[in-house]
Order: sequence, then C-alpha cells, then structure tokens
Amino acid sequence: MARFVWDSKMSVSVQKFDDSHKKLVDMVNELDDAMRAGKGKDVMEKILGGLVSYTATHFGDEEKLMLGHKYAGYIAHKAEHDALVKKVVQFQGDFHNGKIAMSVEVMQFLKDWLVNHIMGTDKKYGPFLNNLGVK
Ligand code: FEO
Repeated sequence: MARFVWDSKMSVSVQKFDDSHKKLVDMVNELDDAMRAGKGKDVMEKILGGLVSYTATHFGDEEKLMLGHKYAGYIAHKAEHDALVKKVVQFQGDFHNGKIAMSVEVMQFLKDWLVNHIMGTDKKYGPFLNNLGVK
C-alpha cells in the first residue's frame, strides 16, 4: 500500500475531527509498517486494538457533537459508524482466531474504509457545524 497521507482535501472543517482523522491515518500506517516489517501477531493485535479503540472513541465524539446540535444526518451517520465498527471488530476477531492474515488487501480495506467515510459522510457535517460556530 502506498503510504497513506492525510491531505487538506480530507478536511471536514472541524479542527478536532481533522486531528483525530490524522491520528487514524497514522495508526493505519503504523499497522502497515508493522505488517511489512514482519512483526509478530501480538504486536499487530496491539496496534489493531488501538486502532479499533481509537475509532470507537472518535465515532462517539462525532456522534455526541452531531446529536447535541440536532444534526439531521445523525441517524444515517451513526448507522454507518455502527456498520464500520462491526466490520472491523469482525476482522479483529478473525485475525485473533487465525482465520485471516494481515495482508496488503486488509490494509487497503482499512484505508478505503477511512477515506470513503471521511470524504463521503464526515464532510457533510462540516458546513452545518461551522454555521453553528463549531470549527
Ligand atoms: Fe470521522 Fe464519522 O467518522
């Protein structure tokens, strides 16, 4: 996988969420580096666990802000979060049980998962929240 780089096209116009997206990008890169370096399963699981946990925290932060500002897209956005978490937790379990290996395809899946959600769904709340003074 080519190095995953956050760029301004991915900005959602809310600084703290741009910061958490950058951290998620860093975590995916960390996992990719560990895979390429042939790190052991315990190391990979630790990084993956951190990614899953940070993702859940980040999703919760977005949901709280959207809900607090009565964002009309909240329900659809939360449903997407829930589906994404379910998928990655499923992957985490399969990896733990040895049903699936960490691979370039998996890394690409994680990258697409993040980029598509940020670009397709997160970006929509930016103008709405900005109008309410959230930047
Ligand atoms: Fe940044 Fe909706 O996740």
